[in-house]
Amino acid sequence: MKLNAIVVGSTGLVGQRLVYYLTNHPWFKLIGLTASKERSGKKYMDAVKWSLENEMPKEVKDMIVYDTDIDLITSLKPDVIFTALPSNMSQFYDIELVKRGFLVISHASNNRMEPDIPLLNPEVNADHIFVSKLQKERWKGRLFKVPNCVTSILTLALKPIYDDFGIQQVFVSTMQALSGAGLNGVPSMAILDNIIPYIEHEEEKIENESLKIFGYITPKGIKLNDKFYVSPSVHRVNVLEGHLESVFIKTEKEVDIDDIKKALTEFKENKIKNFDLPSKPKNPIIVREEVDRPQPRLDRNEGNGMSVVVGRIRKDKKNWIKFNVLGHNTIRGAAGNGVLIAETLLKNIDSLDI
Ligand SMILES: NC(=O)c1ccc[n+]([C@@H]2O[C@H](COP(=O)([O-])OP(=O)(O)OC[C@H]3O[C@@H](n4cnc5c(N)ncnc54)[C@H](OP(=O)(O)O)[C@@H]3O)[C@@H](O)[C@H]2O)c1
Repeated sequence: MKLNAIVVGSTGLVGQRLVYYLTNHPWFKLIGLTASKERSGKKYMDAVKWSLENEMPKEVKDMIVYDTDIDLITSLKPDVIFTALPSNMSQFYDIELVKRGFLVISHASNNRMEPDIPLLNPEVNADHIFVSKLQKERWKGRLFKVPNCVTSILTLALKPIYDDFGIQQVFVSTMQALSGAGLNGVPSMAILDNIIPYIEHEEEKIENESLKIFGYITPKGIKLNDKFYVSPSVHRVNVLEGHLESVFIKTEKEVDIDDIKKALTEFKENKIKNFDLPSKPKNPIIVREEVDRPQPRLDRNEGNGMSVVVGRIRKDKKNWIKFNVLGHNTIRGAAGNGVLIAETLLKNIDSLDI
């Protein structure tokens, strides 16, 4: 039997991807779509400015888009709710929905750093799902957060290096796609022939969220990792999809490049009952040997957009290594990760006391 799912914010870039993945999903049935008042009452095909490379699934074309209203969502009795709203909206809706007892998977940045709310990148920290039991002291439902897009891509590439060689410092300089700013994000006059070396609050998110994803499970929730730090510098570039990140890492032990490549390709993922999930890529990290890869246009769809691609792995002085990593920001960095989180939860539902 499938679980009934709703997408809140279904007309945005992340919402559209969620709609695409949840239509014909083996474990979920899409029963409701919401957006702002302006679009409510319209058929989905008339309400949305469809922006994916894939055709809109025929099953959703005639679905009526609802207003994002807590009572209305409650009346639909969903088993799981995916929210993809601006964070000021999400702050309100996520909390009202968990108070009503729902299981919510939320893509916006609100509440990401709270110790009892898992911030999940399943291959890296699937075991953090269990701290959500602490939320029973606050509300009837459960809230799980999808990390910032750069952070999801970065932490996946860091995980095998952290496990095998230890990490002391990470510097990361990003080249972030336009889709990361949402459907109406960056005006064309601002970005054509240009690079913008600033994205509001992005650097703090990457810095803090990475330490939470690598954080320790304690009886009070997740404690931030204190073994290393991450120093980001972010840029918006004129690319549609796919964030490229230039990463510089100081490892605890001196390592050689072949060991790094081996660790990345053989990546031992964080294993709970999260093997064999429909959205999980066969190879979460792909290493390329060409001197000019990864590139957004060529590499963003690896593993159906769920793999990250690492290239230009080089050794620097002493314990420093550097490489480029690329990931699809609205798939690995958002909706694909949201659905993978839902699958991980479902596979472990017996141990979650939900
Ligand atoms: N884009 C990415 O790569 C990415 C990655 C990770 C996380 N995120 C986060 O995910 C969230 C969604 O991002 P996005 O890129 O999909 O944004 P978006 O394209 O701007 O979409 C926003 C969605 O929220 C809805 N919405 C806006 N105001 C609303 C209101 N007052 N009431 C109800 N619904 C409202 C919009 O509906 P209308 O169409 O009716 O306005 C639309 O469905 C954001 O918090 C973002 O930071 C995005």
